[in-house]
Amino acid sequence: MTPSEGIERFIRSDLVTFGGYSARKSPDTLEGKVKVPVENIIKLDANENPYGCSSRVNQALATCPDLNIYPDNGQTRLRKLLEGYTGVDAKHIVVGSGSNQLIDLVLRLFVSKGDEVINCVPTFGIYRFSTESCGGTLIEITRDENFAVSISAIKAAISGKTKIIFLANPNNPTGTITPQQDILELLDTRLPVLVDEAYYEFSGQTVAPLVNRYENLMVLRTLSKWAGLAGLRVGYGFFPPKIADYLLKIKIPYNVNVAALVAVRESLKDIDYLMSRVKAIIAERERLFGELERLEWLKPFPSQANFILCLVLNGEAIELRQKLQDKGILVRYFDEPILRGFIRFSVGKPEHTDALIKALQEIGG
Ligand SMILES: Cc1ncc(COP(=O)(O)O)c(C=O)c1O
Repeated sequence: MTPSEGIERFIRSDLVTFGGYSARKSPDTLEGKVKVPVENIIKLDANENPYGCSSRVNQALATCPDLNIYPDNGQTRLRKLLEGYTGVDAKHIVVGSGSNQLIDLVLRLFVSKGDEVINCVPTFGIYRFSTESCGGTLIEITRDENFAVSISAIKAAISGKTKIIFLANPNNPTGTITPQQDILELLDTRLPVLVDEAYYEFSGQTVAPLVNRYENLMVLRTLSKWAGLAGLRVGYGFFPPKIADYLLKIKIPYNVNVAALVAVRESLKDIDYLMSRVKAIIAERERLFGELERLEWLKPFPSQANFILCLVLNGEAIELRQKLQDKGILVRYFDEPILRGFIRFSVGKPEHTDALIKALQEIGG
C-alpha cells in the first residue's frame, strides 16, 4: 500500500514527512549494550542536574494527598510561587509541562502555515521541531565561528511573513551569551522575540526585568536544570499580560500536574541548598573546561551554562560518542550538518569529570 492509499491520506501532508525530534535515550535501553551495569552509566547527554532534586521534594511527594484531584487550571498558586522566586508579577507568568511545552504553545499562538520563524543556528532543536509541526518555515541565521549572533543578519532576514525571532540565551548547545544590547535591538524591530533562558541560573544574565516594558518580549525559564526537576516537567515563561492571557486560553487544560506544584513549592523552600549545587556545577564547568583544553585533539568553547561544546579536531565526533558510550558515558552528538564535528558534555559531579577525562585520555585523538 502506498502512502496515498493508506491512513496517511488522512494525515496532514506536511507531517507525513516530518522528521520528529531525536530525544535522548534512557539508560535502561542500553542494558547489555555497554560494558558497565546500567546503574553505573554516567549520563552527560541531556544537561540534567547530577545532584538530583531537593530531598524535600521526594519527601513531600511521598505523602502528596491530592493526586485524585485535577490541578488548578489557572495555575494560581504556581504562578504566585514563581512570582516570589523571580520577582516578576504573576500576571506575566504562564507555566508549562516543561518549557518545551511553552515553546510549542507560543508557536501555536503565532505561527500558521507559511509563516516564518527566525532561528539562530546552531541552537536548541525544539525550535525547529515545533515550528515545522505548526507548518511554519524556519529562516536560519548561522552564528559566527565563536557562535555569536549577527543582529544585522537577523534584521536583514525579516520579511512580511516573519512572526517570531528565537534566541536561546545562553544558547544550547554552544553555551554562548548574546549581550543585552543586541536583544534590545531585536526588540526594537517590534516583532515578537522569545528569549529562552533555560540556563539562567548558571549564567546569571537575564532580560526578565524588561517584560513589563516591551509588548513583544517573552522569556522562558525551566526548573529542569537548576532544580533537578527534568523528570517532573516544569517550565515557565514571562509574557506581556495580553500574550499570557492568550496562552492560558489556548493551552491544554490542567497542563501542569499536581506533583509539579508540590515540587516547585518544596524546591523554593530549599533554595539555599539548590543554589549551592548550582555553584558547584559552575565550578565544575570551569574545571572540566581546563581539563578539556589540555587534550590537544578537542577544542572546548567557553560556556555560561551547565554543558561544554567541543570541536573534535582529530577523529570523528560520532565515533567518539560511541566509544564513550561503550565505556558507559553518554554524551551528546548532533546528527545535523552544522554540528557534525562537535560533541557536547553536560557538566556532572567531580567524579564524572574524572571518569570522562580518563576515558578521553584512553580513547585518544
Ligand atoms: C535552550 C533550552 N530550552 C528549553 C529546554 C527544555 O527544557 P524543559 O525541560 O523545561 O522542557 C532545554 C532543554 O534542554 C534547552 O536546552
